Amino acid sequence: MCGIVGYVGDKESAPILVSGLKKLEYRGYDSAGVAVVGRNQLNVVRATGKLRNLENRVVAEPPAGTIGIGHTRWATHGRPSDENAHPHAYRGVAVVHNGIIENHLALKEELGGSGHVFSSETDSEVFAHLIADEQERGLELKDAVRAAVARVRGTYALAVVCAQDPSRIVCTKDASPMVLGLSVGQNFLASDVPALLEHTRDFVYMEEGDLAVLTAEKVEIFDREGRPANRPTRRIDWTPVMAEKGGHKHFMHKEIHEQPRAVADTIRGRVLLSEGDVHLEGFGFTPEQVRAITKVTVVACGTSYHAGLAGKLMIESLARIPVEVELASEFRYRDPIVEPTHLCVAISQSGETADTLAAIKEARARGALAMSICNVIGSAITRETAFSLITNAGPEIGVASTKAFTTQLVALYLLGVKLGRLRGRLTVREAQRRLTHLTEIPKLMEAVLRSEGAVKRIAQAFQAAQGFLFLGRGPMHSVAMEGALKLKEISYIHAEGYAGGEMKHGPIALIDDKLPVVVIAPRDPQIAYEKILGNIEEVRTRGGKVIAVLEEGDEQVRKLADHAIVVPPAPALLAPVVATVPLQMLAYHVADLRGNDVDQPRNLAKSVTVE
Ligand code: M6R
Repeated sequence: MCGIVGYVGDKESAPILVSGLKKLEYRGYDSAGVAVVGRNQLNVVRATGKLRNLENRVVAEPPAGTIGIGHTRWATHGRPSDENAHPHAYRGVAVVHNGIIENHLALKEELGGSGHVFSSETDSEVFAHLIADEQERGLELKDAVRAAVARVRGTYALAVVCAQDPSRIVCTKDASPMVLGLSVGQNFLASDVPALLEHTRDFVYMEEGDLAVLTAEKVEIFDREGRPANRPTRRIDWTPVMAEKGGHKHFMHKEIHEQPRAVADTIRGRVLLSEGDVHLEGFGFTPEQVRAITKVTVVACGTSYHAGLAGKLMIESLARIPVEVELASEFRYRDPIVEPTHLCVAISQSGETADTLAAIKEARARGALAMSICNVIGSAITRETAFSLITNAGPEIGVASTKAFTTQLVALYLLGVKLGRLRGRLTVREAQRRLTHLTEIPKLMEAVLRSEGAVKRIAQAFQAAQGFLFLGRGPMHSVAMEGALKLKEISYIHAEGYAGGEMKHGPIALIDDKLPVVVIAPRDPQIAYEKILGNIEEVRTRGGKVIAVLEEGDEQVRKLADHAIVVPPAPALLAPVVATVPLQMLAYHVADLRGNDVDQPRNLAKSVTVE
């Protein structure tokens, strides 16, 4: 939700912090701030609104010092304002915090009783007060942080600097992400890898309860019990350019166009065409375990949940195992039936989503086999699961998920083939046929991207619409849901994604001559082509405007539709990977034409690390 950076070295820290925060702005963008220690003095600069407001202040009056911490906020406690922006400082101690302190009211009351005056409405400020108190009792910064954390109930990634000790940053985490970036003569911390890629490729992922002390020369890590901990250093191959806009107006636009590459990278090295099999590095389940699976349960949120819905059809069809797809936020709070013969699959771009993390932990605790499909290596969810199928989408910065979704679909398809082969449900020949289809997908996506001009013209025609309906059947139902989510989250136009067959059961009442209805209509009998033609007729009869996503050469739908987006034909199970792309472009152009902030839509955060 919030983004944190920290720097200690021999360079001026403020520009490094602001540049790191720019890479994290997707995590939160209602206010930002930095705290820099120089000559035993703490300089805090904060600003409400976008990061450029902070940047202007920092440029106008640069805070001097070679050690500092920074934060970009997504408000949970207290409205966005300069006072509520982080860092929060108290008696020379400055903190930045990502997470939630559940017992902050009790702590504030207690501290208030002993003379503390709070200057913000946030829960996070409590940390500065607790740490300052512990220091005044004689504890060094590291121990003061540990003592403060012990009094807090909740989640945190916390970084602390203090005027009295200008050589070190202390940071700690529990349930919120924190990585350490290692270099020579300087060290870094951040919520996410892209913030630091211009400085280093060597990262350490802190584990739950870890505390680290960073100086320019070294990084020491201690576990929850305070014992020195040896955490592996991972080399991350993402380049800084992968986290830049590369000439596109927005990250989302760039990420939509990266999809053929992202999908190809997700397939690469995994498809064994001659053997009719799939190689999944780290897949440690034995053939016996796989044959014994009686159910797959997918847990996920938002776009990743929609990927799960499409994945259900893939796994059921390729491996003939029943699949349930659950909203992680619901799964964790009920009493789910989980057996040791169930495989629970958590899907998450970030690997940090609190609900998905909690759901997979719950499934594991109840004895299920656990795996994840994630885009971020080393993220919390990957560490919680025995096996992680990494989608090689590269960093996704736009808040609206695009390439993460299509690579998740591809990962689910690979998983379906793998399970199908291990369970003897797919012959070598059949698997070869299915995998050949998969390898052709990047080319089909490239063809769709070439139709952007047509999609943009449709966006121009409907940019002022009050609402949209998206319809699809079979695998295209999840595409309709994803198309609607994309549109509403960045254009702020209400949109519904429905199964075509459900239209008569309610949404048909919405249809009039002002309602654009996007119908995803591949010419495939397996996707009930005749029925979707019926849906189009029903919309037309009531005056609705039909925008059809149709297959090349399908004159029947073209004649019925008011607007056409043409896509190449793809096999039913993989058709969602192709058909989603024009809907992403539609959402993008509508939002851009309306003048919205496409990459950082209001009220949203890229990764939801709180409930
Ligand atoms: O990182 P995750 O995939 O776990 O995130 C799940 C959702 O928060 C995410 O997909 C969200 O719905 C996006 N804004 C969709 O574009």
